[in-house]
Amino acid sequence: MHRISLPAIGTAQAWRDAARRLLSAAVPPPDVVWADDTTPAGLFETAEPIAWSGVLKVPRSFVALANSVVWHKDSTRFDRLYHFLWRLRETPHLMTDQGDADLAVLRRMAKNVHRCQHKMKAFVRFREIGEVGDARRSFAAWFEPTHHTVEPTAPFFARRFADMDWRIITPDVTASFVKGEIILSEGQSKPPLPDDANERLWITYFRNIFNPARLKVKAMQSEMPRKYWKNMPEAAAIPELIASAPVRARQMRLAAPSIPPVRARKVQAHFATLETSWAGTSGDLAASIAVCTRCDLHGKATQAVLGEGPRDAALMIVGEQPGDQEDLQGRPFVGPAGRLFDQLASQSGVERDRAYVTNAVKHFKFRAQGRRRLHRRPNSSEVMHCKWWLDAERAAVRPRVILAMGSTAALAITGNGKDMTRRRGVAQPLEDGSQLILTFHPSYLLRLRDPAQREAATGDVRHDMALAHRLSRQLA
Ligand code: URA
Repeated sequence: MHRISLPAIGTAQAWRDAARRLLSAAVPPPDVVWADDTTPAGLFETAEPIAWSGVLKVPRSFVALANSVVWHKDSTRFDRLYHFLWRLRETPHLMTDQGDADLAVLRRMAKNVHRCQHKMKAFVRFREIGEVGDARRSFAAWFEPTHHTVEPTAPFFARRFADMDWRIITPDVTASFVKGEIILSEGQSKPPLPDDANERLWITYFRNIFNPARLKVKAMQSEMPRKYWKNMPEAAAIPELIASAPVRARQMRLAAPSIPPVRARKVQAHFATLETSWAGTSGDLAASIAVCTRCDLHGKATQAVLGEGPRDAALMIVGEQPGDQEDLQGRPFVGPAGRLFDQLASQSGVERDRAYVTNAVKHFKFRAQGRRRLHRRPNSSEVMHCKWWLDAERAAVRPRVILAMGSTAALAITGNGKDMTRRRGVAQPLEDGSQLILTFHPSYLLRLRDPAQREAATGDVRHDMALAHRLSRQLA
C-alpha cells in the first residue's frame, strides 16, 4: 500500500507529480491511500518514493479538470481523480463520454470549486490595516471558503489589487500579496480587523443596487448565502431592505414611466426639460428621486442627494451639487465645503437645522482620477433637467426666502448664472412671492488664493447669509 500525503499548499502540483509517478510504476488505484495533511496515518501504509522517468500524456481537458477538483474539500477527490486517470490510460476518449458516472462526479466537483471561487471574488471584504504614510496601502480580509480555493484564486486578487499589499486570511491557508509577490502560508483563526471607512460605502452601494421590485429572497440567499453575511458590511442592510421592499416596489411602480414609441419618447424628453411642476406629495419626493434618470448624471453617482431640513422652513439654502462625501453619505453639505458652510452659517446667525438645505443638481458629477473623484461643474442642460426636483422641493417647502449659493444655484432659480459679484447681496422678489438672495459658493471661497480677496468674499457671504436669516425671520 502506498500512502501519498499531499500538502495544503501546492496541492495541485503535488497531486500531479504523485499521480505521474504512480501511473508510470503501474500502481493500481486500490493500492494507493491518498491523504491530505489532515488525514491520520494508517497502520500498513508506506510512503516510499516511487521513481519516475519518461513522458505521460493525458488530455488537456483532464489536466484542467484535475486542477479544479484538487481544491474540493471532499477527502475522496484525489482517489477519484487517480481512478479516472487510471481508466483514461486504457480509454483515451473517456473525457468525451457524456454518460460516464465517474466523469460526471468529477465535473460536479469542479463546478462546486468554480462556484466557491466566484463567491470568494464577490464576497471578500478588505479592511485597511496599514499606517498613514506607508509606501503601499495594506489591507486584510477574513474569509471562510467552502472549498480550498485561496491558492487558485489568489492570482485574481493579485491582478485586481496590484497596487496594494493585501492578505486573505482563512482557517485553511493565508494568501499574502507583498510588493507584487503572492506568498502562501498556513491558515489562521479569525484576527481582530479594524472597521473600515469603506463599510458605509458598501452599504450605500448595496442599498442603491438593491431592486425591491425584483426581490426573490430564496434566489438572493442562494446567490449570497447567509454564511458569508457576517463578514460583509452591506449584509447589515438586508433585513431592513427585505422588509421595506413591498412599499418601495409600489413607489417605484408609481414613479416608473411607461415606455412610449421612439418618436413619442423624443418629444416627451423635450417636454420633460420644460416641465417644472411636481404633481406628487412631498412625502413621495425621496422615493421618486432615488430612481431619477432625467439626465445621465445618475449613471455614475452613488445616489441622488435630496435636500434636508424642516418641510415648513422659512429659509431654503441652495448649493450647486453634492460632492464626493455628500454622494457617499446621501446628505447635502457634509464634506469640506459643508464644513465651511456650517462655520459661515453659525457666524451669520443661521441655524442649519431650521433651514432647508439642498442643491440645484442632485447627483454628483465627477471625473475619476485614479482612486479620486474630481468634481465637475454640471452643465446648463443638467441644471435645467434637475430644476424639476428643485421646483418640487420649493413647492413642498414654500420657503419665504431662498439663499442661492454660487452660479449654478443662480442659474437654476433665475435662468442666469452670470455676474454674481454684481448681483449678490440684495433681496429680489420671485414670482411665487418669496425673496431670493444670491451669494458666493463656499467652494469658491476655498479656491481663492489671495488672502485679502478671500477675506473680503467671506465677509460678503456672511453678510448675505445674515440678510437671508433676518428676512426669513421677518417673513415667517
Ligand atoms: N457643494 C455643494 O454645492 N453642495 C454640497 O452638498 C456639497 C458641496
